[in-house]
Amino acid sequence: MPVLDDAGAREFWLGQTGAVAVAERDGVVLGTAKMGPNRPAQGSHIGTASFMVATAARGAGVGRTLGEYVVDWHRSEGYAGIQFNAVVSTNTSAVALWRSLGFEVIGTVPGAFRLPDGALAGLHVMFLDLGGVRG
Ligand SMILES: CC(C)(COP(=O)(O)OP(=O)(O)OC[C@H]1O[C@@H](n2cnc3c(N)ncnc32)[C@H](O)[C@@H]1OP(=O)(O)O)[C@@H](O)C(=O)NCCC(=O)NCCS
Repeated sequence: MPVLDDAGAREFWLGQTGAVAVAERDGVVLGTAKMGPNRPAQGSHIGTASFMVATAARGAGVGRTLGEYVVDWHRSEGYAGIQFNAVVSTNTSAVALWRSLGFEVIGTVPGAFRLPDGALAGLHVMFLDLGGVRG
């Protein structure tokens, strides 16, 4: 499996248009989210985001705080909606969290993600309409 080195990881997380949020307590990073346009040019009115919460910090509200920040950021920047492109269908905490923030599963690509044990899981496309896509 390919692994990113530090420079590759930094470019992947920080090198794109948009913003990066960091949740920290007492100088310790608990989680982070990156956000910005899902597509360039004619697709740039729809945003997207990615999230990571440190294993030891999970289940304590960090993901929800970052998710709420991401939704607020997109609203304030004037985005029409937010699209999550690849939420693993077995990631129950993520799916429940995004649903609770108003996202819905638009569709699922069957078997598109290989789990560590080799089994295949679907990838959900999840969408939150911020009021800008329905005429
Ligand atoms: C998904 C992730 C971002 C959630 O972050 P978190 O800080 O653990 O989430 P929170 O503590 O804010 O919990 C938010 C919601 O998730 C759900 N949840 C949390 N832990 C759960 C668990 N063990 N089982 C089921 N649901 C759970 C609950 O619905 C919770 O709602 P509540 O606030 O009403 O209790 C985090 O687990 C993570 O980084 N996972 C690995 C990377 C990843 O999956 N990124 C997202 C890809 S789409």
